[in-house]
Amino acid sequence: MDSEIKLSVLFTREQIAAAVKRLAAEIRRDYLDKNPVLIAVLKGSFVFLADLVRQLNFPLQIEFAQLSSYGRGRESAGKGKIKVVQDVKTDIKGRHVLVVEDIIDTGLTAAFFLEHLRQKQPASLKLCSLTDKPSRTQVKINIDYLGLTVPDKFIVGYGIDWDERFRYLPDICAIEDGD
Ligand code: IMP
Ligand code: MG
Repeated sequence: MDSEIKLSVLFTREQIAAAVKRLAAEIRRDYLDKNPVLIAVLKGSFVFLADLVRQLNFPLQIEFAQLSSYGRGRESAGKGKIKVVQDVKTDIKGRHVLVVEDIIDTGLTAAFFLEHLRQKQPASLKLCSLTDKPSRTQVKINIDYLGLTVPDKFIVGYGIDWDERFRYLPDICAIEDGD
């Protein structure tokens, strides 16, 4: 059961809200008249996306894509094992595209997905991530809009899961290794 897992709050809902507000202001400034396509990477970014677009409050399009990079564990599947499970269902050629991610860990998933999208020839392509874990970087990617920097811990909550669990938590919590 969830209660058997030890969690500690890393970012409160208020801290998350402040980060989302700051990001929205930056994105608003850059995309206000561009009718961008926001591509949210499922499933972890759904709560972030919902909060973000309500703060943006200007014309934009929402699309989703799903990638597979993790199995049941807490380690990245690694290079070459990332797949597009569900691709973007709109033509993004010539459009201003902003990828919305929940977390950049090794960077492998985002690097793969950005390259995948680049081949579709968008007018511009940028990355927004709620969180980044710099201690784990394997591929250096530029995060154009970054919310929160997290320590080398596995995080859950605010849409982010561990094996489909804990997405419902309003705060971002770290799983403490109890064993
Ligand atoms: P990367 O390819 O190692 O950068 O992994 C990116 C993806 O792995 C993220 O979009 C998450 O879905 C998942 N992930 C990485 N670290 C965590 C974590 O601490 N908690 C939950 N999911 C994570
Ligand atoms: Mg993800």
